[in-house]
Formats: sequence, structure tokens, C-alpha cells
Amino acid sequence: MLQDQLQQLKIRALEEIRKASDQNQLRDLEIKYLGRKGELTKILRTVGELPEAERGPAGNLANQVKQVLASEIGRVKKSLGEKGGGIADEKEWIDITVSKMKDSLGHLNPVSKVQYELEDIFSSMGFMVLDGPELESEYYNFEALNIPSWHPARDMQDTFYVEGEKLLMRTQTSPMQVRTMEKYGAPLRAVVPGRCFRNEATDARHEHTFYQLEGFMVDKNVSFSNLKAILEVTAQKLYGKDTRVRLRPKYFPFVEPGVNGEVTCFLCHGKGCRVCKKTGWLEIFGAGLIHPSVLKAGGINPEKWSGLAFGFGLTRLAMLKYGIDDVRLFCGGDLRFLNQF
Ligand code: FA5
Repeated sequence: MLQDQLQQLKIRALEEIRKASDQNQLRDLEIKYLGRKGELTKILRTVGELPEAERGPAGNLANQVKQVLASEIGRVKKSLGEKGGGIADEKEWIDITVSKMKDSLGHLNPVSKVQYELEDIFSSMGFMVLDGPELESEYYNFEALNIPSWHPARDMQDTFYVEGEKLLMRTQTSPMQVRTMEKYGAPLRAVVPGRCFRNEATDARHEHTFYQLEGFMVDKNVSFSNLKAILEVTAQKLYGKDTRVRLRPKYFPFVEPGVNGEVTCFLCHGKGCRVCKKTGWLEIFGAGLIHPSVLKAGGINPEKWSGLAFGFGLTRLAMLKYGIDDVRLFCGGDLRFLNQF
């Protein structure tokens, strides 16, 4: 029956009109139902073909539906206009006098600054700059470096282990020594800056996450003189021409002999001050000649080749350079600290 058809059309059309989310959709619906070829218009045209007695009521109902739909379209059009969902009109405008949002440029962390400075110094001496994995195997972090599972050095470098796997968060950048030897063979020169992790009872000088920069060189007849020369040039470029380097014996299982490296304090130039704790010297690296069994682990014949290695505490260097007295500030995320650099 025509009346049923009209009722169903009304329900469907009202539902669609109320769901319209912008003026374009609404205009399409207006055309779909009320346009010249619209669904309601087509029904209205058939009214004349009905038996005379039915024509009046059917015509009335069709006109009523037409009015309801037209007024609903008008209402929704108005409310979309108020919400700003309409087609561009005089309500939509851009205020070109408003000043643009302030650009906030970030800046480098003090550790990155020192890292890039060292990378430049070592690149100028022919060293590659490499990256290594932070999640490292027990083999490269300890065993290949002469630190078997029973070795006391493991206690000094406790770290975070992955349960059930022979994987750990690296405690030093030294595991890259053997990885690099395996990959490039001899001769080679490389530095590896990167993040290290230790299970520490943290204090002003010890953090669970910190940065080191490892350096190593394998070649014919590499000696302690080469090591001292490289480290002196580096210290002088970092802290000035009159800086001197002092090497004192220290045990590291992967070098033989091993040393602790100190430089004359850049603040008091050796006289003694607060930064160097009145000694005139600052301890900034560990170093030594690469142990023959480490060369072997890297697939290099220690009868033919020799090597040197050193490791800077990068975070420590940044602390000294910028007068930062607590290492925990670096990972604290406090912008009041970071924005000073
Ligand atoms: C090492 O890690 C050796 N791999 C260094 C090395 C490389 C020696 C090559 C010989 C040849 P050590 O544990 O001393 O050594 O750490 C080196 C530096 O890392 C320290 O001098 C210190 O500056 C920094 N460091 C160590 N532990 C922490 C920590 N928990 N927080 C901040 N800095 C640390």
C-alpha cells in the first residue's frame, strides 16, 4: 500500500537526515528524497494514478511527509552551521594577525656533546666510530674478555640478566673489541661510544645506566708508547695543550699490562682544587695492551699482531667538563637541570 511505503520512507529518511555530519551530506539527502527525481517526488507522482477515493488521503499523507522531511532538513542544517560543520561561509575565517606558535628547538645532552667531541678527535686519527648492542651475550661481555663465570671481576660488574638466556645488559663497551676483530680482522682502529648498565647501589658517582667510550687498535708492533701518545693527544684536545697524562698500574682481565689513566686537572692545572679533590689529577680512563687470549678470541694471531685498548667513562667526562656533582641528574629527566646546557 502507498501509505505503508510513505511511512517507511519517512522513518528511513528521518534517520539518515539526523545522522548527517556536514552540510554536503545533508544536501545529498535533500536531493535523494525531495529532489526532482527524489524518492518522495516519485511517490507523489503516482498519487494521480490511484482510484479517486484513495487519492485524497494518499496525497495528504505524502505532502505531510514532505513537510516533515523538509523541516527536519532545515533544523539539522541550522544546528550543523552553529557547530561549524558547514560548508565554508562567512563564519569560517583565519585570523592572519595571530603570531605563530613559538618554535621550541631542543638541544644536545651534555653527554652527547662530549661524545661527539671525542668522535671527532678519534676520527681525525683514523678510528672508525661503531655502535654495539646494549643487550649483549655473556660470551662477549665476559668470557671472551678473560672473565669466566667464577672470576671475581663479575661481582664488580653485576648487571641485569635475561632469565633463561645467556643475555645481559652490557656492563661496558669492551665487548665490542672481540666483535669488531671478528668482523674486520687486523689491522683495525675503532671507537665505540654507548650506554652501559650495572646493578649498582646508586650514589653521586654511580648510576645504573651510564655512558662509556671504548677505543682499540690492532696493528703490527703496537706498544705502550702508542697508547700513551693517543691518550695524550686526546686529553690535550679535550682539556687544553698543557694537559699531561699519568698512567698507573691497574688490573683489567682483558689487558696486559693494564693502567688507570689520569690527566692534570683542567681547572687548577695540577695545583689541587675541589674538582680533583686536591690531588691535581683526574682519573678519566682505563687502558692497556690487549691480552693475547682476547686477540685469539677475535680470530687474530697474537704472534703477528698486537693491540691497545682504552675505555673512557663518558658520563664522568661530562660531569667534569660541566661541573655536575651528581651522576643521577643525567637520567632524572628534570628539565630544570637539562635546560642549563
Ligand atoms: C671498564 O669498564 C673497562 N671496560 C675499561 C677499559 C677498557 C679498561 C679498555 C681497559 C681497556 P671500569 O669498570 O673502571 O672499567 O669503568 C670505566 C669507567 O666507567 C669508570 O672510570 C667510570 O668513569 C665509568 N663507570 C663505571 N661504572 C659506573 C657507574 N655505575 N656509573 C657511572 N659511571 C661508571
